[in-house]
Amino acid sequence: EPVTISISPDIRKKKSISDLLIGIFYEDINYAADGGLYAELVQNRGFEYALSDKEGRDKNWNNRTAWSVINTDTFLIDTASPIHANNKHYAVLQIEKTGVALVNEGFNGIPVKAGEKYDLSLFARSPEKTRGRILVRLTGKNGEIYGETTTRTISTDWKKLEAVITATRTANDARIEVIPQQTGRVDLDMVSLFPQKTFKGRENGLRADLAQALADLKPRFMRFPGGCVAHGDGIGNIYRWENTIGPLEARKPQRNLWGYHQSFGLGYFEYFQFCEDIGAEPIPVVAAGVPCQNSAHHGCVIGGQQGGIPMEEMDEYIQSVLNLIEYANGDAKSEWGRKRAEAGHPKPFNLKYIGVGNEDLISDIFVERFTMIYNAIKAKYPEITVIGTAGPFSEGSDYVEGWNLATELGLALVDEHYYQPPGWYLNNQDYYDRYDRSKAKVYLGEYAAHVPGRHNNLETALCEALHLVNIERNGDIVEMTSYAPLLAKEGFTQWNPDLIYFNNTEVKPTVGYYVQKLFGHHSGNEYISSNIVRSDNREDIRKRVASSFVIDTQTNDLIIKLVNLLPVPVSSSIDLSDIKIADSQSDLTVMKGKPDDKTVRPEESKLTVSGQLEYELPAYSFSIIRVKTN
Ligand code: AHR
Repeated sequence: EPVTISISPDIRKKKSISDLLIGIFYEDINYAADGGLYAELVQNRGFEYALSDKEGRDKNWNNRTAWSVINTDTFLIDTASPIHANNKHYAVLQIEKTGVALVNEGFNGIPVKAGEKYDLSLFARSPEKTRGRILVRLTGKNGEIYGETTTRTISTDWKKLEAVITATRTANDARIEVIPQQTGRVDLDMVSLFPQKTFKGRENGLRADLAQALADLKPRFMRFPGGCVAHGDGIGNIYRWENTIGPLEARKPQRNLWGYHQSFGLGYFEYFQFCEDIGAEPIPVVAAGVPCQNSAHHGCVIGGQQGGIPMEEMDEYIQSVLNLIEYANGDAKSEWGRKRAEAGHPKPFNLKYIGVGNEDLISDIFVERFTMIYNAIKAKYPEITVIGTAGPFSEGSDYVEGWNLATELGLALVDEHYYQPPGWYLNNQDYYDRYDRSKAKVYLGEYAAHVPGRHNNLETALCEALHLVNIERNGDIVEMTSYAPLLAKEGFTQWNPDLIYFNNTEVKPTVGYYVQKLFGHHSGNEYISSNIVRSDNREDIRKRVASSFVIDTQTNDLIIKLVNLLPVPVSSSIDLSDIKIADSQSDLTVMKGKPDDKTVRPEESKLTVSGQLEYELPAYSFSIIRVKTN
């Protein structure tokens, strides 16, 4: 029996929907920052890795991680007089004969490309009377030279030395050798190497290919810095934004609760700058005065069930949250606006939202602190929209406490998170239809379809497409969505599935990435209701086939989205007789394949449309038909 549906959109039944629906959730999980999006090529550049950073307390994870020495047996780490108190450790070489080198292996190899330029910088000092320059080389495993440069002469006090290396070869396994041209003691710190080709050529910038993959999603907003990283797994692990701005040598690194180290080279300035570069609204999320309270919470197994920031320290914490807003939006003469201007951005970043809390248990400790922070922001910055948190998801609970608090306080937006199996998305297509329109709007801040084995494949991607189609229908109550997590370095993941996998040289978007990208590129700001009639009125068709009709009023395009999770094609007949079609040649984009395919990509073609459109939805597919209208 062929499966058929007929759909009649009714252009008289239109409603405005959010134009911010598709965004990105960035968290430093799976090596998303150092060794990932942050373009720094030297690992542990500040010698600040600590045994306590590392999950399982791996003994190889310490101040010397990724470093070694050549032509000497001594490799000392000192803390006696650092460049800055936030960056305590530095390396000491005792050189008897020139040729001693300090070597960094990068993040499992430094990738270099022949002909490309790399910015080298390091801090050095030497107490010796005769001080030399520093030869810096990129070398292969067998000593082959891939490029080299020489810095100016070392000083007696800490001094930043800079130079450019042009790579002479293309290789993935280079290492960097720092070879002082003198004898005696030489102290070294913040040894750094960046490709000049960062995203948009920004200094201290982002890896061009990975950042481009994010920009290509056309995200309307970017959440930062998490996830669990935002609230940490103990009070001392709360993400403190002030530690992540200013000169790199003065930033205060810290343990990442996912079991590694955060240099904070990619900090709040770089984040705001990136949002501006890609036209995304920044959505910073700060802790609600509590670290993770939930011992069952994925990232917080180490430190769950701790109290909140002591009441006598809450004023200071609240001030820090207000300072973040001033840093983003304040006049360049204000205390924190000036720091932004000094970093190279005198104009405000025009921050509109701030998230407070991340999936926290709605305990008394939380409620008290959240309310204090919320009231302080509302009083000082009434124009900023505060996003609350619904708390941890549990089936059937409907996040009662989180929503009660939101309603009591009159919050404008609430952040929900859930990771569910395909069946949940099929069975909950009306999830947001049930939401009370008089309450806060929803930011679906984290979601993904999870199958056993935690792969991202066509089945999960289609479930996400189905969910987003249903969310478009509810785009009057759901304001924003972001798939989570975003980035994962192959071999260094703590969480699967993720949207984009990568290694040092390749970016590997998943099937789910393309679903997000299609929604990002084919979003609208008006939703048109439609009536669907299904052959036999079968329940499986209702659960596995979904459609949406949106209009992008900027282009006047009608965008039809059709999801088919059935193993058979579905013949659709779509009544477009009320639509004024301007061009009968529409753009058709289709993703289709087998449910466990991991390599499905969108295919583009043309489709002739008329008042009555007959279109066959392939088995397991997502189709978008974009029609020009008058
Ligand atoms: O996205 C991964 C984690 O899932 C986030 O850090 C946390 O908020 C959620 O539990």
